[in-house]
Amino acid sequence: MSIKEVVKEKYGQQALRVVSGSGTACCGPASSCCSTDPITSNLYDLGEKSQLPEAAVLASLGCGNPTALAELKPGETVLDLGSGGGIDVLLSAKRVGPTGKAYGLDMTDEMLALARENQRKAAVENVEFLKGEIESIPLPDQSVDVIISNCVINLSADKDRVIHEAYRVLKPGGRFAVSDVVVRGEVPAEVQRNVELWVSCIAGAMQETEYVQKLARAGFVDISVEPTRIYNIEDARGFLTAEGIDVDAIAPQVDGKFMSAFVRARKP
Ligand SMILES: C[S@@+](CC[C@H](N)C(=O)[O-])C[C@H]1O[C@@H](n2cnc3c(N)ncnc32)[C@H](O)[C@@H]1O
Repeated sequence: MSIKEVVKEKYGQQALRVVSGSGTACCGPASSCCSTDPITSNLYDLGEKSQLPEAAVLASLGCGNPTALAELKPGETVLDLGSGGGIDVLLSAKRVGPTGKAYGLDMTDEMLALARENQRKAAVENVEFLKGEIESIPLPDQSVDVIISNCVINLSADKDRVIHEAYRVLKPGGRFAVSDVVVRGEVPAEVQRNVELWVSCIAGAMQETEYVQKLARAGFVDISVEPTRIYNIEDARGFLTAEGIDVDAIAPQVDGKFMSAFVRARKP
């Protein structure tokens, strides 16, 4: 199976978990799915959650709160790359108001069905969920004011293409305002693989410097990476120990290096 097929199958199952009422979607290993996941839990405040259908909140699989940080204004057009159950699209729609528009883009049918059902329950009209891949965005050039995304770009096997596509669809002056997991500093490949296995929603977290270089190469300016949550080896101790990994030996190579961050940039 290709990476895309594996990702589709995994997130299709997560959507069905929410639809069937089996619980929340969850990124960590199956054994930790009932407990609090340090990456996806408590990202939204009560005021935000109370405006949304319960299934949109239960399906949240992000690692940040991009709409809260993106400074969205009434009338703007927003595009969420990998919109999942639609939580950030619905929140964006409220921020941009009836004169604005929020698009969600996702490739997984089950997630799109869940997102459209959440839109129906939330009774918002300035929202459209599109089926497609973030490496080939089905929107015209210069049609979007703000690109948001929540823990999706790390899943792409072709991050340069995603960033070029984001640049293409943004209007001049448009903003890239994305939450993602990034790695700060050098981490041995084997250690990174083990941590990614623990997180399991993350397939290929980029080095912070690599992220910045890719954005700059695509033409973006005013690039910044602001950590929002920094992970500690203790978050993953149980899982890594069960996998036979000597946690204390790798701790110095992991602690403080994996983080959720808010990545900002501007198209000149
Ligand atoms: C980690 S979930 C995040 C969902 C949502 N952003 C949230 O915060 O809850 C990843 C989502 O991105 C979608 N996705 C992953 N890779 C994609 C790709 N290459 N193109 C389109 N959608 C993709 C998956 O189907 C899934 O719904």
